[in-house]
Amino acid sequence: KNVAIIMGGYSSEYQISLKSGNVVYRNLDNTKYNLYRVHIFKEKWVMVTDDETEYPINKHDFSVDDYNGSKLTFDVVFNAIHGTPGEDGLFLAYLELLGIKHTSCTHYLSALTFNKRDFLSVLKPYGIKMATSQYINLDDAINEEAILNKIGLPCFVKPNRAGSSFGISKVKTKEELAPAIEKAFTEDSEILIESFLDGIEVSVGVINYKGVVTVLPMTEIVSENEFFDYDAKYLGKSQEITPARIADKLTEKVAATAKRIYEVLKIEGLTRSEFIIVDNEPYLLELNTVPGLTAESILPQQAREAGISLQELFDNAIELALN
Ligand code: DAL
Ligand code: MG
Repeated sequence: KNVAIIMGGYSSEYQISLKSGNVVYRNLDNTKYNLYRVHIFKEKWVMVTDDETEYPINKHDFSVDDYNGSKLTFDVVFNAIHGTPGEDGLFLAYLELLGIKHTSCTHYLSALTFNKRDFLSVLKPYGIKMATSQYINLDDAINEEAILNKIGLPCFVKPNRAGSSFGISKVKTKEELAPAIEKAFTEDSEILIESFLDGIEVSVGVINYKGVVTVLPMTEIVSENEFFDYDAKYLGKSQEITPARIADKLTEKVAATAKRIYEVLKIEGLTRSEFIIVDNEPYLLELNTVPGLTAESILPQQAREAGISLQELFDNAIELALN
């Protein structure tokens, strides 16, 4: 089977995606599959060989015209693009249209989960707890006083559709609100302002492993910064403790919530959701359908803790995509 690992993408997360994609490339079983790295950038879509030669991808059928004397097509795509156009479903819709299998959940579920406002609003009727929030579109008039009255301080200002904490600020004073809003709008034309949840942050990997929805050992995040921002995530300014140091009963409760979300929405593939635990109750922040797979990322640590090697984790994703 020919496997294309797509990486890169059009968002601020492209460098992280390249790292994730390369981890997948190095760990998938190359005796079982023919592995190809495919870079998806706005300027070019190319298949890249180990000696960094680039072969253009035909957009009409996702193929390479002339590789080693013949046309190269792909049986399955491993999606390692964080943000658009991978994690938000756009590229997946294209693959689905072409009939090419992929490792992510459907384009629709990817789009839904990537949109924090829509994802949370779909889950709210299920009794899942979450922060109080205000959604603002770039075209909307902004009434700071009304926002502060509703949300309070401190609060978080986030792009509605982004990842790796790009564009996120923690706002402690009302003077900080306007610049935080401006910053979030540099990443997306929609933003969310959320009340601050004072509790324990946990990251929960949920995967379909060999046909069984499996919750991996969860990770507790202790950030040295004000929150789990980009530096904390990738420059080591945080402690990630797996398994989280929380009581078994609470662990079970969080795991059950994360699993329920996966099952209720019929999500597939590798996911990692974020919760803040306040007074023994998990509050949902978001769910990532293309979680980071870099050496610093959380999901690989969790898989290791569960006794699943990266090769097993990625091979499993390919097998599920093919079946
Ligand atoms: N968005 C980053 C890659 C993550 O969720 O790990
Ligand atoms: Mg995220």
